[in-house]
Order: sequence, then C-alpha cells, then structure tokens
Amino acid sequence: MRTIEWKDNKVIFINQTKLPTKLEYITCANYECIAKAIEVLAIRGAPLIGVATAFGLALAAVKSKAKTKKQILSDLKKAAARLRNTRPTAVNLFWAVERILKKANPQPDVKSTVKAVVLEAQAMAEEDVQINKKIGEYGASLIKDSSTILTHCNAGALACVDYGTALGVIRAAWEQGKKIKVIADETRPLLQGARLTTWELKQLGIPVTLITDNMAAYVMSKGLVDCVIVGADRIASNGDVANKIGTYSVAVLAKQHKIPFYVAAPISTIDFEIKSGAEIPIEQRNPSEVTKTGNTKIAPDGINVFNFAFDVTPNELVSSIISERGIAKPPYKVSLGRWMQK
Ligand code: MRU
Repeated sequence: MRTIEWKDNKVIFINQTKLPTKLEYITCANYECIAKAIEVLAIRGAPLIGVATAFGLALAAVKSKAKTKKQILSDLKKAAARLRNTRPTAVNLFWAVERILKKANPQPDVKSTVKAVVLEAQAMAEEDVQINKKIGEYGASLIKDSSTILTHCNAGALACVDYGTALGVIRAAWEQGKKIKVIADETRPLLQGARLTTWELKQLGIPVTLITDNMAAYVMSKGLVDCVIVGADRIASNGDVANKIGTYSVAVLAKQHKIPFYVAAPISTIDFEIKSGAEIPIEQRNPSEVTKTGNTKIAPDGINVFNFAFDVTPNELVSSIISERGIAKPPYKVSLGRWMQK
C-alpha cells in the first residue's frame, strides 16, 4: 500500500479522515491543496507529512509560470512558507522543505529546477519505504517471540509512504514468524489508534486488541504487555521524544511496570539543532476536536479546553531509539550524536 503517489504532475493520496469507513483518495494539483490536507489530517504522520511537503513543492515548481531562475525560486519560497505554516511539531516537514530548496538552489534554469525538484520529491518517497524496512529489521531484534506489544497513535504505513516505523518493527517481527500480538490505544481525541492502527493490522492479519487510552495502566498491571513501541514527530538531540498526546503517560506507565519503551523513527525525525524537548513547538488544535466525537457534542458550549496534539517524553523513560542507522541506547547525547556524525 502506498499512501501517496506522484502521477501525471498531480499528487494522489489516501484521505485518512475517512478511514476506516471508506478508503477514499484525494488528488491535488497545487500546493495549497496539500497544505490544507496536512492541516485537516487527511495527510498525517511525521514521515508522510515530510514527503507530502516535498510533493507540494514539486507541484509549486510544475505550476510555476516563472521565466527566470530567480522567479521560480521565489515561487518555491512562497509555497515553502505556506507549507511550513501547516503544522509545527513534526520536524520532517521542515527537513523536507530544506532538502528540496537545497536541490533547487544550484540549478542553472527554470526547466532544470522543475525537473530536479520533482525527482528529489520522488526519491524522498522511495527512500521512506527503504528506511522503514531498515528500521523494521533493526527493531525486530528487540521483539521477543510470543510477546504482546502496546502502541499509541498510528505509526504505520499510513503515517509514512509505506511499511511504517513502529508498526514497521511489528510487521518485520511478524514476517520473521514471531507470534506477536498488538494492543492499540484508541488515541483520543482523533482516534488514530482506533481508526487507523487497527485497520492496518487487520489488513496484515496481525492480531490486535483495541483499548481506550485510560485502560493502559490496568492492562499493564495484569501483565498483558511485554513492550511498548511508538513513533515520533520530533526527537531532540538528548533523546527527548515528541509524539502524539498520551505517549508520555504510556511511557510513565511502562516505567512503573518495568516494561521496555521503544521509539522507532527515521533520522529525518531527529532535530539535531535542539538540545532538549523543551524547545519542541507543540501544536494546539481546535477545541471542537475535544468537545465533539465525530459530529456528536460531548461537552457544554463554551467550555475551556486544552487540545495539545503532542507531548514530550523525557529521554530517561526511553529504553531505545530505533532508526535506519541501528539501535541507540542511553545516553542519547552520545548515541544520537554518533548518528549525526555519520
Ligand atoms: O497528529 P498525527 O496523526 O499526525 O500524529 C501522528 C503521530 O503522532 C505519530 O505517532 C508520529 O507522527 C509518528 S508516524 C510514523
């Protein structure tokens, strides 16, 4: 399953707001359409947001009426500013913008700029799949046969171009013949766990049990969880991890029950420029996502709401970070620092 594709100078992707009820695709012919899809979470998950941003810039290049190199760079910068403004937390978005602009800058003319940008975006999509398979390969070594793994949110193929990061590890272990089971947190308020993770695992034939977020402590206390594995939206150079709201609670619970807590993410999710999680911008979304489930009102009008979309798990709660470079252990300043050197 590819969540996103470049075809005939358009971008086609799964509309994740409709799953699991409907498998519907959206076609975008300009970057504004991509920006809106990221904002409403039709496109979501850090690696996919990165690739979609690259494709958004490719659309901006293809649609540009520029006659000079200077003009096309200005068009690309305008599109980059719009895309940068969609969601603040997943660093993959900003990484993708930098990578595309770096490719565009040295091109000699308009035609070569368009070509280079489109090819780079396509290459990023292909790389994502290979990277996730590598993460899966490394991560599977941490998963014991017959274990039950708890995951939060959706870090599967849907959050990437294909295969997934945290679910990629689960999938790789399953493909190696390990008889594993998954417990999926529903992930309030937008239910990525209930809607997307269970849908993906069901398709793969991997046994999955859905729980509400507030059941995790009890389930762990009953000895029903052997390890936790989640994805990430941004990892600071000290190993602090920003991921979907509720991840921090799961990490605290894992520590209390002496259960390993693993994070799987590509290098593009590591922000080597920041020292700690305190510097990660945390998105706050519309209160209506909390006061309603679907179209049903569940709270009084005008009630005060916090709707933080992400939280930061301190590095001391993270047992290992898995990337395409291998498995990093604490102290992360040293182990992630080594990855940065490479
Ligand atoms: O708000 P979302 O659905 O984009 O949040 C997604 C997550 O938090 C994922 O766990 C993270 O992006 C890793 S995806 C491989």
